[in-house]
Amino acid sequence: MAVIYLQEFLLQETFLSIKSVIYQLTTFLSLVFSLRFKGRDIISIEDFSREEINYILKSSHAMEPLAAKSSDMLKGKILATLFFEPSTRTRLSFEAAMLKLGGSTIGFAEAEITSVRKGENLADTIRTVENYADIIALRHPLEGAAKLAAEFSKLPILNAGSGAEEHPTQALMDLYTLQKEKGKIDGLKIALVGDLRYGRTVHSLAYALSLYNIELHLISPETLRMRHEVIRAIKNKVSIKEDTNLDNIIPQIDVLYVTRIQKERFPDPAEYAKVKGIYRIDLKTLKRAKKDLVILHPLPRIDEIAYEVDNTPQARYFQQVWNGIVVRMALLALVLGAVK
Ligand code: CP
Repeated sequence: MAVIYLQEFLLQETFLSIKSVIYQLTTFLSLVFSLRFKGRDIISIEDFSREEINYILKSSHAMEPLAAKSSDMLKGKILATLFFEPSTRTRLSFEAAMLKLGGSTIGFAEAEITSVRKGENLADTIRTVENYADIIALRHPLEGAAKLAAEFSKLPILNAGSGAEEHPTQALMDLYTLQKEKGKIDGLKIALVGDLRYGRTVHSLAYALSLYNIELHLISPETLRMRHEVIRAIKNKVSIKEDTNLDNIIPQIDVLYVTRIQKERFPDPAEYAKVKGIYRIDLKTLKRAKKDLVILHPLPRIDEIAYEVDNTPQARYFQQVWNGIVVRMALLALVLGAVK
């Protein structure tokens, strides 16, 4: 009897281990075949799985030495930067990333000097520029503009900021910075602070963070709470706590992601005046924070982080700027098929 039990047990165990091997193999194969970046648009961070994001972060790490000395990986390739809204970091870091990989750039930093001024629409602009370049980075004040451009374009479109909607490449550099500064993303208590309604970076970042095992604190004035559609999309994936008071959570958090109140997106200047300068991080704030707190900001900053904070070990927002180069180098190389 005992022998029969043993045989059944061994059969069951063998079956389970075969099942486990098959499971692991199919997971590995689906990962390999699903990690396709060549020719892909980067419109929303929601289009990416955790495995794909981790792969981009790994590829970004591999770009660090190339960013320090440059390469000819993308020699002969042209990036077009079409910026219909002001930018310092995103446009220049996309261009620097392309130049560091041996490619070239064309483009414009304001629509006023282009044929848009004469009435040309976005679709025609895209169908024109695709004759001159291999990849397009687009910033536009209208939500949905990047998606529309991707529908018309034969070239991959990189969303460099679409109105108040999303800024997916910023979210990738934010995650890369978290991983570099904290050695991990899982397990962190992260506060997004400021304008969670009109700030596109926090929308993309919240979507991306919902793929990790983190605690998310959303700190904003009532009128600038995180958009309902973002909350709806992430609430079953990640622990969320909303508050208007930053002081309440300062001592417990590991990462403080501060954002500017987006004055230009307020329909009513009186509403902006009510929330202007509502949060300010200064040395007094840091006294109550963890010693290894990491402060990030997508920049530009206005007055939400005092200059006195810049020289503290917690201030990592200018390191975050550097990380934008390596992440955008990785994205260009992956989407143009120079790395797999
Ligand atoms: N973080 C960011 O998008 O900065 P710019 O507006 O300067 O590109």
